[in-house]
Amino acid sequence: MLGRLNHVAIAVPDLAAATAVYRDTLGAKVTQPQTLPEHGVTVVFIDTVNTKIELLEPLGENSPIAAFLEKNPAGGMHHICYEVDDIIVSRDRLKAAGARILGDGDPKIGAHGKPVLFLHPKDFLGTLVELEQA
Ligand code: CO
Repeated sequence: MLGRLNHVAIAVPDLAAATAVYRDTLGAKVTQPQTLPEHGVTVVFIDTVNTKIELLEPLGENSPIAAFLEKNPAGGMHHICYEVDDIIVSRDRLKAAGARILGDGDPKIGAHGKPVLFLHPKDFLGTLVELEQA
């Protein structure tokens, strides 16, 4: 079921400052910011050839990463995203195995225009896992 690592996401309090760290200090190519109101975040991506890094900044009043940044004010690793061939088949298999899907359990469209789901960190070794249909 599990495919490639699509990205590792880092939540940050200031996307412009975080972009400067990756672009200027690390010499990486960083995409233009993309607002995702349905997910409550603004994101940029960094292509590291074999995978990507996603930098997330809170957007709006009820951002799902606001509480994380309260606990980690300097930012920190927020989730990892794996690709799957069929997100509905994967979701149903995980639910049958007792895993908890966040939200209403239905995929939303993610930053790459593809359906995504998030899995409860308590079921996956303390790590928030995103699944993206490849
Ligand atoms: Co992500």
